[in-house]
Amino acid sequence: MNASLFRRKAIVPDHQDGQGLARTLGWPHLIALGVGAIVGTGILTLIGVGADKAGPAVILSFGIAGLICACAALAYAEMATMIPASGSAYTYSYVVIGEIIAWVVGWSLILEYSLVVSAVAVGWSGYAAPLLQAWAGVPMALMQGPELGGIVNLPAIGIIAVVAGMLLVGTRESATVNAILVLVKIVALIVFVAVALPAFDAAHFEPFSPYGFSKHVGPDGVERGVMAAAAIIFFAFYGFDAIATAAEETKNPDRDLKIGIVGSMLACVLIYIVVAVAAVGAIAYTRFTNSPEPLALILRELGSPLAAQYLAVSAIIALPTVILAFFYGQSRIFFTMARDGLLPASLAKLSSRGTPVRITIFTAIVVAVLAGFIPLGELAALANAGTLAAFTAVSICMLIMRRRAPDAPRTFRAPMPWVIGTIAVLGCIYLFFSLPAQTQFWFLLWNIGGLAVYFLYARQRALVG
Ligand code: ALA
Repeated sequence: MNASLFRRKAIVPDHQDGQGLARTLGWPHLIALGVGAIVGTGILTLIGVGADKAGPAVILSFGIAGLICACAALAYAEMATMIPASGSAYTYSYVVIGEIIAWVVGWSLILEYSLVVSAVAVGWSGYAAPLLQAWAGVPMALMQGPELGGIVNLPAIGIIAVVAGMLLVGTRESATVNAILVLVKIVALIVFVAVALPAFDAAHFEPFSPYGFSKHVGPDGVERGVMAAAAIIFFAFYGFDAIATAAEETKNPDRDLKIGIVGSMLACVLIYIVVAVAAVGAIAYTRFTNSPEPLALILRELGSPLAAQYLAVSAIIALPTVILAFFYGQSRIFFTMARDGLLPASLAKLSSRGTPVRITIFTAIVVAVLAGFIPLGELAALANAGTLAAFTAVSICMLIMRRRAPDAPRTFRAPMPWVIGTIAVLGCIYLFFSLPAQTQFWFLLWNIGGLAVYFLYARQRALVG
């Protein structure tokens, strides 16, 4: 038995009998899954947090985060078509670099997916709470976490329970419902731009970058700057990696993954820049920073309460698609790691409908508790830390494989791989260090805990090697 910390998995993972996932998804499902996972709380809510950190230069933050994410997406697409198996960054790292790195990446992905579910549930609650208060008289104290003066965020917990139920019903049905809801979300953003853009005033861009470029701590103790904002806004761009986790359930992975990942990424970069320009141009950014529903607020301030309500209702209906996609990805990462022996196999047991029921229920409980009590900004920042670790690993994997096996078949080849790969790796590292210091600390703690689990449990039980 190979006991090396860097033992590697074969390029096509072996499945134990009955452990394979059903192949039910085509590329339209994947694009819907991608856009469904990408467009969410980032553009709808964190745009305000970003503007608070960067001023109007939040547009630049969108551009920087989008560029880095697009480069990582290309590396992802190449690795996903080279290794079309469940587990995304975790599996690629296991095949290309070795077990210990794969473990750290898998552990980081669990953090990412779980916290995105929690964060988007809190973002959803931000748009839902005012309506629940007005229409059903629900007290605000039951719709906000303690940090905002509430007791518990019950709507966030409730929406997690609903999405968990959808996943338990089965992938296929959930993905189709998802596709319809993606349309709702896109139309809502088009309505926002149609109302906000005519109010464009270049004066709102002065001064353009009041807090400078690199992250620094201001007199009020808040970390600001274009990069500090980019490190948070980064949240808005990822989600395409949830597609890669579905590789094993894709009918024609070589073609479909490529179209799914690159297509949904490009669409989202375009949409965000337009929405951000419309938002910052419409009213002074200071009026919507820190609002739990900034885009609705902008529409109200522009004298369009109906459009604001339409946007809020659309967000309420459609944001669960983001929760769905990340929840799905989370359960698949868990599933793959358990199948490799690194996590308890009993958790990876599939139901007769082919869904990992235990993982789904376990995840639901954990992320619901987090969503009930922790503020959005902190959840999003820590989710970003996990994602940045995974993206760095995937980009390094792509570069290693270009050198180790330059002629191995790849249905999709990233253009200018050394440029793209280097931008992705260095960009992700720069974004990581632009996150709040507290987030970096929590991330370190999470991975120290993870390594303890690895050395005490996983390493001896790994089925690889
Ligand atoms: N990109 C996803 C969102 O913004 C996580 O909600």
